[in-house]
Amino acid sequence: MSSVLITGGASGLGAALVHRFVREGWSVGVLDRRPELPDDLARLERRGVLAFESGDAADHSAYDRLVSEMSARFGSIDALIANAAVWDYSRALLDMTPEELDAGFDQLFAVNVKGYLVAAHALAPALAESGGAMVLTLSNAALYPGGGGPLYVASKHAGVGIVRQLAYELAPQVRVNAVAPAGMATALSGPPGLGQGEQRFDEVWDGAAFAARVPLGFVPEVADYVEAFIYLADREKSRAVTGIVLPVELGLGVRGIRNVAGGVRRDRN
Ligand SMILES: NC(=O)c1ccc[n+]([C@@H]2O[C@H](COP(=O)([O-])OP(=O)(O)OC[C@H]3O[C@@H](n4cnc5c(N)ncnc54)[C@H](O)[C@@H]3O)[C@@H](O)[C@H]2O)c1
Repeated sequence: MSSVLITGGASGLGAALVHRFVREGWSVGVLDRRPELPDDLARLERRGVLAFESGDAADHSAYDRLVSEMSARFGSIDALIANAAVWDYSRALLDMTPEELDAGFDQLFAVNVKGYLVAAHALAPALAESGGAMVLTLSNAALYPGGGGPLYVASKHAGVGIVRQLAYELAPQVRVNAVAPAGMATALSGPPGLGQGEQRFDEVWDGAAFAARVPLGFVPEVADYVEAFIYLADREKSRAVTGIVLPVELGLGVRGIRNVAGGVRRDRN
């Protein structure tokens, strides 16, 4: 049986990935700073297919504990999904005080960049042994400006560097790829140093406005993104793929210079 460690697996995209991997027959380890799992995931824990560690995604010792538990219970570890992150609510550079810039940078990069590197460092030996894969959750903000402020966009661009460098360093034993999703209604929060620790993305996101800007023209759901992770995590499906960032973004990158979606405008029909 295969197993996967998912950071930030207690909410949003990470939780959807937990359910999907379990449906595919995988066992799952979740590392999340939340103290407890939501009910639906706690049920999976009681079924014996989920191991949970409450801790920080940049804390080496949290991985040590979870990796030993997963190895003891599930045998090999076959994939890492580095997914826990925070947003910056598009706070522009000049809208930050010097103190906010300092604290916001330290806190956001600690999760979005250091957290991914620490996860990779902790899991590389187990994945080298199993011939496994790392998949990073990046974002359209890893590829284009405007999906956040400079802190978030820089952190997700840094993720592209992590993918390329680690794909190179860890080959041939471990494949390293990323998925770059676009928007979805989740509880995504921000750094406390920007006053965003308690904010939730689903309270501010205008899905309809997003849909109007992208060629595919619909409001994406978390479920629209999970298949790409399964593909990149599963060596049976993607053993020839490493070092890529797979955009799953409703055509955001090919929208051209017009702001409306697509070549077939609905008002022409
Ligand atoms: N929501 C979107 O529109 C969107 C768009 C593109 C990319 N993403 C990316 O998707 C990923 C998942 O985010 P989400 O939208 O599901 O948000 P979410 O807040 O619902 O889930 C993130 C999880 O990570 C956990 N977490 C945050 N900081 C942590 C830390 N320091 N240590 C351990 N756990 C921590 C949170 O507790 C939460 O359970 C992130 O990488 C985010 O950048 C989200």
